[in-house]
Amino acid sequence: MKYDFSDKVIVITGGTGALGRVLTKSFLNYNSKTIVVTYRSEKEMLELKTELGNLFERPLNMSTTIEFTKVDVTRDDETKRSISNIVERHGQIHALINVVGSYIGGKSVTQLDESEWDKMISINLKSAFLISKHVIPVMVANNYGKLVHVASKTGLVSNGYDSAYAASKAGLIRFVESAYQEVKKSNININCILPTILDTESNRKDMPNADFSKWIKLEDLSKVILFLSSDNSKIINGAAIPAYGLL
Ligand SMILES: NC(=O)c1ccc[n+]([C@@H]2O[C@H](COP(=O)([O-])OP(=O)(O)OC[C@H]3O[C@@H](n4cnc5c(N)ncnc54)[C@H](OP(=O)(O)O)[C@@H]3O)[C@@H](O)[C@H]2O)c1
Repeated sequence: MKYDFSDKVIVITGGTGALGRVLTKSFLNYNSKTIVVTYRSEKEMLELKTELGNLFERPLNMSTTIEFTKVDVTRDDETKRSISNIVERHGQIHALINVVGSYIGGKSVTQLDESEWDKMISINLKSAFLISKHVIPVMVANNYGKLVHVASKTGLVSNGYDSAYAASKAGLIRFVESAYQEVKKSNININCILPTILDTESNRKDMPNADFSKWIKLEDLSKVILFLSSDNSKIINGAAIPAYGLL
């Protein structure tokens, strides 16, 4: 599918992670102005910039840009400041892709520490609330916007030993469903996607004997996110989109 994201301001949280990198490249291929929200050190940011910079070796639309901004999206003040800086420089935000997330599994409820519970709720759920809270008013003012959150199939069905993660991703699904009722009148779409295991280096290392062919390819998931960020998905709103067709 062909998209035109030229002149569109796309903000990607977690844009330095496994899925985030592939997604960032995908958006840049469609000539967007992409702003990657990262949590990393200056050195790691520079490495990613170099990696993504290779894309610029071929002619791209003049409007294509990439910027990095360091924010802890679990902190209200930092998130608010960063969004207002982006709006000051670019005028608006057309799409927010919230990829930030983390996983703790393999522990029973009785083994789980309070700090681990808090970490899952904070990174997987509170981050979605905070970034949406500060981006939605910008989109409402422009009467346009697309928000895509990355949840998980585990938010629907858990296989056990992942209670904090499952609860946080289930919460994200209900959050999206609720927020949709508030934003739909402003020409804003908010959806989430529910992948199973992603085919990442780190998962391959952790599960060397698994059948990788059943895992979600990052490029395939990126295609779904591009679609949800585009006007082609105008009639999809408040949805939790399954992304586990291979299992
Ligand atoms: N991997 C899977 O198998 C799988 C399966 C289902 C769903 N998912 C979901 O898919 C999404 C992407 O997964 P992934 O494997 O690509 O994750 P990842 O490689 O671990 O990347 C996570 C990203 O989140 C960022 N991050 C973490 N805490 C942050 C904070 N407080 N503020 C700002 N950024 C923060 C990290 O930034 P830094 O790099 O700067 O630290 C990183 O860019 C997540 O939401 C995950 O829950 C993953």
